[in-house]
Amino acid sequence: MADDIVWHDHKVVRSQRAENKNQKPCLLWFTGLSGSGKSTIANALDVALHNRGYHTFLLDGDNVRHGLCRDLGFSDEDRVENIRRIGEVSKLFADAGLIVLSAFISPFNSDRRLVRKLFPAGEFIEVYMDTPLATCEERDPKGLYQKARAGEISDFTGIDSPYEAPAHPEISLDTSSSSVDDCVDSLINYLLERKLIVG
Ligand code: ADX
Repeated sequence: MADDIVWHDHKVVRSQRAENKNQKPCLLWFTGLSGSGKSTIANALDVALHNRGYHTFLLDGDNVRHGLCRDLGFSDEDRVENIRRIGEVSKLFADAGLIVLSAFISPFNSDRRLVRKLFPAGEFIEVYMDTPLATCEERDPKGLYQKARAGEISDFTGIDSPYEAPAHPEISLDTSSSSVDDCVDSLINYLLERKLIVG
């Protein structure tokens, strides 16, 4: 970090940006194996919140890796940098007053903890997609598990690269036993109970 860069305080602060949008910012962080349902549930929740009039933004691994993180691969080191960048971007969007939904495998506890620390208490909501590996592999929507098993791609999460399950996620969802609608209902109820949304 450059020592001679000074932080510049903005005149319009975070709370004012949120106030203009009539909402409370937060980050819903979806973590889990490839094929566990992160993007599907995050997208469905995004639609549900958007239809209720909330201002949201969805960040998704496959898309962000086409732009901001196009220089990163799947080594441990690159995944750490991927999550660091996404954490910072998520914080910026929340500072802009948005409800942010971020869907990334984010396999390491330490990286998710660092993102959590960027947020005020209660505003980082870890959503663990606790769908069994066998189901994810059976779905194999992108054919990547098959390639990983065949040794055609390496460092694939759950096969030859680790996934550290969260010990205390705010919410756990298993899309092998719950429908998309049920998962979205659970998330909406959580946000209502915590008064992060009002209706
Ligand atoms: S993370 O581990 O750095 O959080 P991220 O969520 O951005 O991963 O990207 C995961 C997506 O990249 C997967 O959904 C999958 O489509 C694709 N992918 C390609 N190669 C790999 C790999 N080796 N391991 C995991 N995902 C991979």
